[in-house]
Amino acid sequence: MRIAVVGSGYVGLVTGACFADLGHEVVLVDNDEQKLTALRNGAVPIHERFLRELLGRHRGQHIKFSGDLQAATRESEAVFIAVGTPPTETGDADLSYVESVAREISGAVDGYKVVVEKSTVPVYTSQWIRTVILRNGANPAAFDVASNPEFLREGTAVTDFLYPDRIVVGVESERCAEVLRAIYEPLTSGAYYGRADAIPRPDRATVPPRLIITSTKSAELIKHASNAFLAMKISFINAVASICESVGANVGQVCDGIGTDSRIGPRFLNPGIGYGGSCFPKDLMAFRAVAKENGYDFRLLDEVIRINEEQRHRFLRKVRAVLWTLRGKRLGVLGLAFKGGTDDIRESPALLLVEELLREHCQVCAYDPAAMEHAKEVLKSGVEFAKDAYEAATGADALLILTEWEEFACLDLDRLRKLLKYPMVLDGRNLYDPATMVEHGFSYYSVGRPAAVLEGATEVQSKKRERA
Ligand code: UGA
Repeated sequence: MRIAVVGSGYVGLVTGACFADLGHEVVLVDNDEQKLTALRNGAVPIHERFLRELLGRHRGQHIKFSGDLQAATRESEAVFIAVGTPPTETGDADLSYVESVAREISGAVDGYKVVVEKSTVPVYTSQWIRTVILRNGANPAAFDVASNPEFLREGTAVTDFLYPDRIVVGVESERCAEVLRAIYEPLTSGAYYGRADAIPRPDRATVPPRLIITSTKSAELIKHASNAFLAMKISFINAVASICESVGANVGQVCDGIGTDSRIGPRFLNPGIGYGGSCFPKDLMAFRAVAKENGYDFRLLDEVIRINEEQRHRFLRKVRAVLWTLRGKRLGVLGLAFKGGTDDIRESPALLLVEELLREHCQVCAYDPAAMEHAKEVLKSGVEFAKDAYEAATGADALLILTEWEEFACLDLDRLRKLLKYPMVLDGRNLYDPATMVEHGFSYYSVGRPAAVLEGATEVQSKKRERA
C-alpha cells in the first residue's frame, strides 16, 4: 500500500521504517527541511535499535522523505499523523500540530483516503480531525478517520512495532477497517515472521498478533488508559517498596510473590526512582485533564503522580542519610537517560536528581552510555562527564546508580571498590543483590530492600584493610 507518515519524530520514523519493512511504499513527511536533508543523507536522529538497519534497507526505495504534505496525501491511500502533542501549561495535550496537518490534508483528498491518528491524543481527537477536514471542503464520502495508537517503548520501538502484543485499530466504517487490516496483514497473517530477513523476534513475543478493532473513541482511550495503568503499576510498587523499607521487608521478594499471580504479572513491577520519559508524565496529565473535562475527577492519577515525585525525593533523603552533609561531596553517577537503552533525557528522574545534587553543591561525575550529549545541553555547569562507569567512580565518596542500563548491572565490582574513595553504592534501580555487594566489600543501599552495610566495619576501615 502507499502510505504517508506525517512527522519524522520517534513515532513517525519508527512507523515509517517498519511499514517499509512490511513491504509498503512509504513517504515520510516533515516540514523541517534540515531534518529531511539529514535523513536523505543517511542520518538517523534517534538512538533506536534496528532503526538504522531498516532505514538503510529501504531509504530511496520503499521509503522516501518529503516536505510536501499535499503531494504525499494525493499519492497515498492512508495518511498516518505522527506529529508531536506536547503538554500545555494546564496539562492538556496541545493539538495544534495535529489540527494544522488535518487542515492541509483536506485540500488533497482527491480519492478515498484513510487518515490515521498515530500520535497520542485525547478522546474525541479523531472526531475533531474529521470536522477540520470537512470544514476545509473535503467530500465526506472521500475519507475516513481512524485511531491506531502505538505502544512502542523507546529503545525497543522497532521490535515493539513488528512483534506487538496487539494492534489496536479504532474505526467508524468497515471500509476504513479493511484498509487498516491490509496494512497490518503481513503481521497478522504471520507472513512477516517467516521471512529470512525479518528483524529478529524478541524473547517474549507471541506471533501473530491479534488485531483488535474498536470504535475510534475506545481506541483513543485504550492508549491513555494503558499508559496510566502501567504508570500506576510502577507507583504502586514504589509505594510498596517504601513500606518494605519501613518494616524491613524485601520488595524483590514481594514482587516475586505478587508478580507470579497471573492476574497481576511480573512486568512493570520494578521499583526505582520513579518513571520518566516523554510519555508517562505527559500522558497521565493529559488523561487526567480529559477526564476532568468530561466530568470525572480521576484522583487516582493524582496519587500516581504524587508517589512518583515522592520516590525521587525519598532517594535524595537516602543519599543524605548515608553521606550526612552533601556540600562538596564527590558523587559518581551512573545513568542520565530516563531509562536504559535510550539517549532520551526528557523528564528523566536521573537528570532531575543530578540537578538536585548540584543545588546541594555536590561535585558530580556522571556517565551514561548514550545520553551524555543531550545531558550536556541541559547541565551547563558543575558536572564532569566520564568516559565510562569506572572513571565516574574514581575518587567518589559514593556511587549512585540512576538508570537501569544493562551494562551497569555487570560491573567489575572489585575494580569499582578500589576506585571509590569509600565503597558505598546507592542503587536507585536495584541492579545488584545486596548480599553479593557486601561480599565484595560494599555498603549497598537500594530501593525497598534492607540496606546491606559492611558488618563490623565502617567503610573507611574496609578501605584501610584493602590497602593493607
Ligand atoms: C511507554 C510505554 O511503555 C509504551 O507502551 C508507550 O507506547 C510509550 O510509553 C508511549 O506512550 O509512547 P517508554 O516511555 O518508552 O514507553 O518507556 P517505559 O519502558 O514504559 O518506561 C517508562 C519509565 O518507567 C522509565 O523511566 C522506566 O525507568 C520506568 N519504569 C519502567 C520503572 O521505574 N519500573 C518499571 O518496572 C518499568
